[in-house]
Amino acid sequence: MRCFGIIGYPIGHSVSPAMHNAAFRHLGIDAIYLKFEVKPENLRDAVFGAKALGFVGLNVTIPHKEEILKFVKPVGIAKLIGAVNTVVVQKLEGYNTDAYGAMKALESAGVDVEGKIALVVGAGGAGRAIAFALAERGAKVIVTNRTESRGLKLAEDVRKVGECFFHPYDRLEELKGRIDLIVNATPLGMKGFEQKLPVPESLLEDVVVFDTVYNPLETPLIKKAKERGCKVIYGIDMLVYQGAEAFRIWTGMDPPVNVMREAALSALK
Ligand SMILES: NC(=O)c1ccc[n+]([C@@H]2O[C@H](COP(=O)([O-])OP(=O)(O)OC[C@H]3O[C@@H](n4cnc5c(N)ncnc54)[C@H](OP(=O)(O)O)[C@@H]3O)[C@@H](O)[C@H]2O)c1
Repeated sequence: MRCFGIIGYPIGHSVSPAMHNAAFRHLGIDAIYLKFEVKPENLRDAVFGAKALGFVGLNVTIPHKEEILKFVKPVGIAKLIGAVNTVVVQKLEGYNTDAYGAMKALESAGVDVEGKIALVVGAGGAGRAIAFALAERGAKVIVTNRTESRGLKLAEDVRKVGECFFHPYDRLEELKGRIDLIVNATPLGMKGFEQKLPVPESLLEDVVVFDTVYNPLETPLIKKAKERGCKVIYGIDMLVYQGAEAFRIWTGMDPPVNVMREAALSALK
């Protein structure tokens, strides 16, 4: 049996095991995917322990996505982003499928980002992945973040691949009518976190709103954006596509995306 897993701290919330195990069952692959709570001080042991145990793949989530670069070699866009969410364990190679997942979610919703002005709220792992991916696809990216220094650093890094600048988090009102897409890459609205909007309500006019938060499915931002007639994109789509891409990297097989989506949705319910 081939072993896979996800490491994070905390990890209780993850629906990745449901998604991947459903895909393995569907394709008749003899494999199992488990979740492991790994404290930051145990990350190194977890990675090399998994390698010694013959694990095939690991997903990596909060708070290890950047720290894991000490133990794995980043491949492709993971190098630029500086964060990894998918590891090919035996090669100790790290990929970033969050970027792919987010872009695929936009593409599936028929949103072409080229030439569009996109506001990315948040400069953590998810915000970094999305800002890079948007800029690479020709969007003009505005990054905002509660901690200004982190946002400024992201904007500076993204300028290596495209257009990007920082806008202060407490002055978002100024962007009213000037943006085409808003991406929430903060935990605001997530179960267990503050249930407030990540942007002023006045920005929710004539924009596409993409909330990366997927639990609950209908976040306060999604609800408010719908109420104000905006097109919305759900975090679950990004989750499914990032998982599907990890599945493809590990197995070389076409992922059963609909099976993975159904499994994620029922795990969330
Ligand atoms: N759908 C998916 O597949 C998927 C994948 C990855 C992540 N996500 C979502 O993205 C969110 C962020 O994940 P991450 O990995 O980027 O986390 P992270 O690295 O911890 O970054 C969190 C970001 O949110 C900001 N933030 C946190 N609390 C805030 C608050 N109360 N008010 C304003 N800003 C706040 C942080 O700002 P500071 O710099 O000021 O701390 C930082 O920019 C997660 O909650 C998750 O729901 C979704």
